[in-house]
Amino acid sequence: MRIQVSTQACEAIRPGLDVVANPEVFVAIPRARDDARGPTRRGSNSNPRVSRILVLFAHPALHRSRANAALADAVRSLPGVTFHDLYAAYPHHLVDVPREQALLRAHDVVVWQHPFHWYSAPSLLKEWQDVVLEHGFAYGDDATALRGKRVLSAITAGGPEEAYQAGGYNRFTVRELLVPFEQTARLCGMEYLEPFVAHSVRQLDADALRALAEAYRGRIEALRDDRPEGVAETRAGGAA
Ligand SMILES: Cc1cc2nc3c(=O)[nH]c(=O)nc-3n(C[C@H](O)[C@H](O)[C@H](O)COP(=O)(O)O)c2cc1C
Repeated sequence: MRIQVSTQACEAIRPGLDVVANPEVFVAIPRARDDARGPTRRGSNSNPRVSRILVLFAHPALHRSRANAALADAVRSLPGVTFHDLYAAYPHHLVDVPREQALLRAHDVVVWQHPFHWYSAPSLLKEWQDVVLEHGFAYGDDATALRGKRVLSAITAGGPEEAYQAGGYNRFTVRELLVPFEQTARLCGMEYLEPFVAHSVRQLDADALRALAEAYRGRIEALRDDRPEGVAETRAGGAA
């Protein structure tokens, strides 16, 4: 059985956090600054638009990561951001569907952050999509849980940008290769934003990696605070 702990109870647990609980797992969710709920906050004249962001992080070998580790460090503690490491949460790939659906309901923006693996995501993110985005919740006649939310793919790629074009080594742009992610989001009634894509990440020196991480943090903060840069196209990295 899942228990939704009330805001008042959460204050007693830890001020400033909402908590979704089940018998095994507690998940702390940063509360939006204006303390409002759901899409109705957007467009309000009295309150600034502030979005709660869920970063679904999928890296199968974080201990060997440079790029995603730097990007993760740049956003994991930001106010308004819930950073959720899927491989740490589900080492046996047994995704807790009610927990994940509760997390989705509690946020306005979903970020799929991962290295590009075979022109797609590491397998646990696919498993997450397969089991969490189920009929009746994510799509179907009466499924409204995800409608109006936003999705951002945040990708690191080993290949250079010029390899990702017609006639190039990889023949397609990253944007084209991400079409299954885009259409998945759209089928669920979500707005798929221009992805954050970092190319040639293995060639980035420490300064370039720092700049990349700052660009990512800026994009996430802009999304959270509903500034135009949040939805804009982002090209990052790109060492040859
Ligand atoms: C199994 C696997 C598949 C990969 N597939 C691709 C790919 O399709 N395109 C690409 O540009 N890089 C590919 N790479 C390179 C990774 O994207 C790159 O190493 C990663 O983004 C580096 O990030 P990290 O430092 O966080 O690990 C692949 C790497 C692995 C291990």
